[in-house]
Amino acid sequence: MAKKVVKRSWAEPFKIKVVEPIKMTTREYREKAAKEAGYNTFLMKSEDVYIDLLTDSGTNAMSDYQWAGMMLGDEAYAGSRNFYYLWDNVKKYYGMPYFVPTHQGRAAEHMISKILIKPGDYVPGNMYFTTTRLHQELAGATFVDVIIDEAHESSNEHPFKGNIDLKKLEKLVKEVGAKNIPYISMAGPVNMAGGQPFSMKNLIDVYEFAKKHKIKLWFDATRATENAFFIKEREKGYADKTIAQILKEMCSYFDGLWVSAKKDLMVNIGGFLATKNKKVYEEARNMVVIYEGLHTYGGLAGRDMEAMARGIEEMVEYENIRMRVKQVEYAGIQLAKYKIPFVQPIGGHAIFLDAKKILSHIPQEQFPAQTLATEIFIDSGVRGMERGIVSSGRDPKTGENRKPKLELVRLTFPRRVYTQSHIDVMVESVAEVYENRKKVKGLKFIYEPKYLRFFQAKFDRV
Ligand code: F0G
Repeated sequence: MAKKVVKRSWAEPFKIKVVEPIKMTTREYREKAAKEAGYNTFLMKSEDVYIDLLTDSGTNAMSDYQWAGMMLGDEAYAGSRNFYYLWDNVKKYYGMPYFVPTHQGRAAEHMISKILIKPGDYVPGNMYFTTTRLHQELAGATFVDVIIDEAHESSNEHPFKGNIDLKKLEKLVKEVGAKNIPYISMAGPVNMAGGQPFSMKNLIDVYEFAKKHKIKLWFDATRATENAFFIKEREKGYADKTIAQILKEMCSYFDGLWVSAKKDLMVNIGGFLATKNKKVYEEARNMVVIYEGLHTYGGLAGRDMEAMARGIEEMVEYENIRMRVKQVEYAGIQLAKYKIPFVQPIGGHAIFLDAKKILSHIPQEQFPAQTLATEIFIDSGVRGMERGIVSSGRDPKTGENRKPKLELVRLTFPRRVYTQSHIDVMVESVAEVYENRKKVKGLKFIYEPKYLRFFQAKFDRV
C-alpha cells in the first residue's frame, strides 16, 4: 500500500437531492423579531431563523429509502404492517422483545413513570433531563442526580462524563432503602451534561449494583448510537465491534428503555417504549390506548412507523454515525481556534457554549445563557437553546430557582441537514458575539409558566 503523505478528510456519506431555501435577514429585523419573541428562541418563528441549531429533535433529513417507505404506509387503525416491521427492528437492534409505539419520547416517559413509580419514591439518574424528570416528579418521585462530579465541570475532559457514581447510588440506597427506588434512570449520552457518554464498564457496574439490590435499570436510549460510537472510539476492547453490536450489548443490561425517535432514528416524529418485562409491557400497552391511540400505532401514522423502522437500519451504519459525531467535532475545533469556552470533551449531538464563562459579568439570576442565545440570534440568525437556570426550573418543594452549575447555550446539529459552510458561518457569528461580550446586558422574566418554563417564558432586557 502507498504511504499516506497528505491528510485525508472525511465527507458526508450522501449527496443532496432536495433543498429547502433559507432566508438571511438584517440585524434590525432580527432585533425586532427577538423582542417580539420575548427573547426566547423557542418563541421565534422558524422563518426568521437562518441556521437552526435549536435542536436535533425531529429536524433531521430523511433518506430516499425512508421517504420511499413513507409511500408504503399501511394506515389501518389496527394491526398495520408498518407496526410489525418496526417491532421486528426493535427486537433485532435493541434486543427488547416487547414494544409499544408512542408519538414521541415524553409520552413513553409519562407511561413508564406512571407504571413504575409510587408517590414518595426516589429515582436516581445520571443528571436530569427536563421532560424525563418532570414525568418522574408528576408521578410522585424525587429525582436524585447520581452522575459523577466531573460532569458538572464544563472544562473537565473525562472521556465518560455520563458515568454514574456508584458511591452516590450506594448512599441513596442506605438513606431511603432499595424498596423506595423503583428504577435507576440512565441516559446515554447525557444531554444536559453536554452530550457526554457513559462507558460500558460503568454500565456493567451499575447493572451489577441494581441486580444486587433488586432495583430495575431503565435506559433513555434516545441517542444511544452516539453513546455506542464513543464507546467504540474510547473504550478498550470495542474498536473492532460494530455500532449494532455495541448498541445490542448496552441494551442487554437494561430492563427496558424509552426512545425519542426524533433523534437517532432520523425521523420527524415518533417514539417508543421497549422492555424485556412482560408485565410492564402489558400495562404500557393498556395505558397507551388512553393517552396515545391503539397499541399498534400509538399516536403515529403507519408511514411514520415505516420511516422509523428504516431509520433504525440507517442509524447503526458506521459512516452515518461517524459523520454525525465528527460534524459536531468539526464545529468544536473551529470554535476552539477563537478560544471560546465550551463543554469538553465535544459531545455527540451539540456544542454547549459556557455562558457562565463567556458572560461572566452577568449574574445567573439574569440568565447568561438565555442572553447569549439571544445575542447570537441577533448577530446572525443562528438559533441555539438555553440549557441553564431557565431550563432547570424551580424546586417543586421550595419554589426556589434550581441553580445548575452548568449555564450553557446548546448549538445542536440536526442530522444530515447542514454543511460545513453553515458551520463556518455559525462559528464566525459566535466569535463576533464573544469579541463584543462585555457590552452585553442580562435579561429578566416578564412571564414564567409553571411547567417546563424554558419553552414558553418571556423576557425583557434589564
Ligand atoms: N430524552 C432525551 C435525552 C431527550 O433529549 C428528549 C428530547 C426526550 C427524552 C424527550 O423526547 O422530545 O420526543 O418528547 N429532547 C429534545 C431536545 C426536545 O431538544 O433535546 P421528545
